[in-house]
Amino acid sequence: MKMKAAILWEPKTNWSVEEVDLDPPKAGEVLVQLVGSGLCHSDEHLLTGDLVVPEETAAELGIEQFPMIGGHEGAGTVVEVGPGVTELAAGDHVVFGFIPSCGKCPMCSIGRQNLCDLGAFLLAGRQVTDFTARHHARGQDLGLMCCIGTFGEYTVASTASCIKIENDIPLDKAALVGCGVTTGWGSAVYAADVQPGETVVVVGCGGVGMNAVQGAAMSGARHVVAVDPVEMKREQAQVFGATHTASDFEEATALVSELTWGAMAEKVILTMGVASGEYIAPAMAMTQKGGRVVQTAVAPMTDTSVTMSLFELAMYEKQLVGSIFGSANPRRDIPRLLRLYQEGQLKLDELITKTYPIEDINVGYQAMRDGENIRGMVLYDHA
Ligand SMILES: NC(=O)c1ccc[n+]([C@@H]2O[C@H](COP(=O)([O-])OP(=O)(O)OC[C@H]3O[C@@H](n4cnc5c(N)ncnc54)[C@H](O)[C@@H]3O)[C@@H](O)[C@H]2O)c1
Ligand SMILES: [Zn+2]
Ligand SMILES: [Zn+2]
Repeated sequence: MKMKAAILWEPKTNWSVEEVDLDPPKAGEVLVQLVGSGLCHSDEHLLTGDLVVPEETAAELGIEQFPMIGGHEGAGTVVEVGPGVTELAAGDHVVFGFIPSCGKCPMCSIGRQNLCDLGAFLLAGRQVTDFTARHHARGQDLGLMCCIGTFGEYTVASTASCIKIENDIPLDKAALVGCGVTTGWGSAVYAADVQPGETVVVVGCGGVGMNAVQGAAMSGARHVVAVDPVEMKREQAQVFGATHTASDFEEATALVSELTWGAMAEKVILTMGVASGEYIAPAMAMTQKGGRVVQTAVAPMTDTSVTMSLFELAMYEKQLVGSIFGSANPRRDIPRLLRLYQEGQLKLDELITKTYPIEDINVGYQAMRDGENIRGMVLYDHA
């Protein structure tokens, strides 16, 4: 079939919306009609070159990352299932987990599906089922961001990426739970393990960080300090449960020191647009003895520089931990968060600042760079 999708032909260019040829699903795969896709910062990292597999590594592994259909925060309706697929049927509603989970690898078998071995294929650009492509344009095979490629009207993906949800949940809101919501909420609830009464700092309040604020508040934090240079983000953070706001590390450090009588925060969560080693020392300085810094934001892949005091790390037993998908489990947490949404305990509607037709995807990303959106979202017109 033919459909429209946003392709990145190479890094440091814009998304190109054009006609794509889509093959039917093969064994273990499904064809899904997308309702919407969130404009997460991780796709922006593809465009800027931060998330590009170095040429030598790609050649060694036989990976062809570009051209690539972007998007990894989507939801839609199953249209057709490939041979052997029994757990999904046409008409089912699904949210795509941005990490496939096979259920059989060592990490899946201990309940850590966010670290599934299939994660090795996130940037490899082919179906995880047989390592070939279903998407083609201009006579070339196309890669798929996170094995799903939600910047298209339709996609074909492995059932390992599909989480079935109840049919009465609005799919545009559900899409957000495929990445930003679960990543942020889980960064607070699981990775930071926020406890009632704690002081928590969230640095960077976009589509991910706003949900870390929401998760910290839900966990019973005493203070939730939202840090962002953009005034609108600071104002909105209060809607999601922030008790205090600051515009940068310096202001936040002074505020946290005052709030805690110098003890500092139990947990600091880093969710700014682009991670950098230079943020680690100030984040550790805002963390109290025995406290924890959670690194969720994505840094350029080849960047390895971090300066911090190893003396303080050891002597004050501070922790620095990484987190992917909020250390959550897609099959448990996506339906769980959607139940909280349905019962009015989790905010999703308030996250979507503006929607765009796929043709305006570059306008949507410019608005993200300009700090105008909590989350921009592409909505597909299937009329
Ligand atoms: N670990 C994961 O599993 C995972 C999943 C999704 C996204 N991410 C990453 O999380 C990060 C955030 O994603 P997003 O979609 O929310 O991005 P976003 O662009 O929507 O939000 C980033 C926010 O950070 C703010 N900011 C920028 N620099 C800052 C600074 N120095 N101090 C404080 N605030 C600052 C911006 O004003 C913006 O509000 C990105 O790096 C993204 O790639 C990681
Ligand atoms: Zn994302
Ligand atoms: Zn697995």
